[in-house]
Amino acid sequence: MAPTPDRGPATAVQAVLFDAYGTLFDVYSVGVAAERLFPGAGERLGILWRDKQIEYTRLSSMSGRIRSFRDCTRAGLRFAAKRLELVLDAVAEDELMGSYDRLQPFPENLAVLEELKRRGIQAGILSNGDPDMLEAVVRHAGFAALLDPVLSVEGSGRFKTDPATYALGTAAFGLAASDVLFVSSNCWDAIGATWFGYTTLWINRFGLPLDELGAAPTRTGTSLADVLSFFPSSLRSPTP
Ligand code: LAC
Repeated sequence: MAPTPDRGPATAVQAVLFDAYGTLFDVYSVGVAAERLFPGAGERLGILWRDKQIEYTRLSSMSGRIRSFRDCTRAGLRFAAKRLELVLDAVAEDELMGSYDRLQPFPENLAVLEELKRRGIQAGILSNGDPDMLEAVVRHAGFAALLDPVLSVEGSGRFKTDPATYALGTAAFGLAASDVLFVSSNCWDAIGATWFGYTTLWINRFGLPLDELGAAPTRTGTSLADVLSFFPSSLRSPTP
């Protein structure tokens, strides 16, 4: 399906920054391991875990209480298990935390990243994830040669949607925000990046309503393949 032109025609963006969790990698793929450990509760655990993880990043950021993404992730898992009255022993906790380093990429993503490289478009990551977490999940998916730079918000001491985190992307590329396409499946992240000034694409994989934040991404799509519509192949010379 073609992306929705929410706000005018495509701008001439020169590079792409992807969100990692939920966009390149399916955070709910932990549900398989969770279901094996906690039959009947895996899906609910995966959803509540993700919600709490993100809530803890925001609390950390807003209160200036620096905490790593791995810590927020572990704390979110512990809360979610308690909330669902599941007994999370150390072995189960380690297994589920380990699954975060092996999240499944969405099926079309490899081909899209390969096509961006073929068209000579620089593509990187800007994520809340700790550098070692990102390194592991990117390598596991076989994306290491396709993504550069892989930026963690860690250096900013903040989490998204703090503008200091989005500024890491423009600094790394040496481009104005509007010249960079920021891609996220997390609507709040796409809007945070829009507020910062990026050209944005929200990949709305699950047909969700737009968040009620008084702003909209530049475009909305349904699959990572919609990124390619910003980069007509006829206008670019492929890399050898
Ligand atoms: C990330 C989270 C927000 O990768 O999905 O930054």
